[in-house]
Amino acid sequence: VDKPMDATLEKRKTKSFEIFNQIASTYDFLNHLLSFGIDKKWRKKLLLSLPRHKNKLLVLDLATGTGDLAFEISKVASVAQVSATDLSEGMLEEARKKKSKMIETSKDYVRKVGFAIEDGCNLSFKNESFDATTVSFGIRNFPSTSQGLSEIYRVLKPGGRALILEFSLPKNFFFRHLYFLYFRYVLPFVGNLVSKHKDAYKYLNRTVEDYPYGASFEKLMLEAGFKNTSYQALTMGICTLYIGEKI
Ligand SMILES: C[S@@+](CC[C@H](N)C(=O)[O-])C[C@H]1O[C@@H](n2cnc3c(N)ncnc32)[C@H](O)[C@@H]1O
Repeated sequence: VDKPMDATLEKRKTKSFEIFNQIASTYDFLNHLLSFGIDKKWRKKLLLSLPRHKNKLLVLDLATGTGDLAFEISKVASVAQVSATDLSEGMLEEARKKKSKMIETSKDYVRKVGFAIEDGCNLSFKNESFDATTVSFGIRNFPSTSQGLSEIYRVLKPGGRALILEFSLPKNFFFRHLYFLYFRYVLPFVGNLVSKHKDAYKYLNRTVEDYPYGASFEKLMLEAGFKNTSYQALTMGICTLYIGEKI
């Protein structure tokens, strides 16, 4: 069972894709600004853990948003196809525009990326369809983490691997409190100002502060059936990369 959440937050999660529809046009700019560009480094880190055992990998990127992770994955030579999915049509629209611009500038590898509307908690794909499934900063927005993890597990082929990036909280006392100052006050202020959305960024810190991370998140992965699970804290623990295999 997921960690109990405040009822307002829980209700917001069932409709979070609608908020993303409203902030899609400023999402990328704010993402890079508010993370000081570190988000790019985190996505690159995930690439290093893609399965190496074979060529022509079929990859599913859930909650792809504006597609940054999917585009990075498509650069990897052994990847044959990336299904980049999200519940927000607005975010996918931004992703499609980016893909066209990248093709214009000869980044032909992005042709491997295809987009589709999919609910991470109720995927339309058949069992055992993918060699790897990825989610970056998305699973926290699903109405049920356990349901999302079970779906990821179901669509993975045996031998396949799930790679999940999600925000977490720093361990170091001083850094943690400095981070809270930024995360609770500066980030919502700048986020709401730039996105012109009255509260899209207001709850961001609470969705992170209330969310399981580290060993608690790994436990949810184990409960969903994953084996050989591990996790790695990145940038003093602001973000964590989780890995799990289906055997
Ligand atoms: C913070 S964004 C992350 C986007 C992208 N992966 C990235 O790294 O920038 C979260 C995304 O989760 C999507 N989302 C929320 N609930 C979802 C669900 N139930 N199924 C699929 N996507 C969902 C939102 O529409 C949004 O695009």
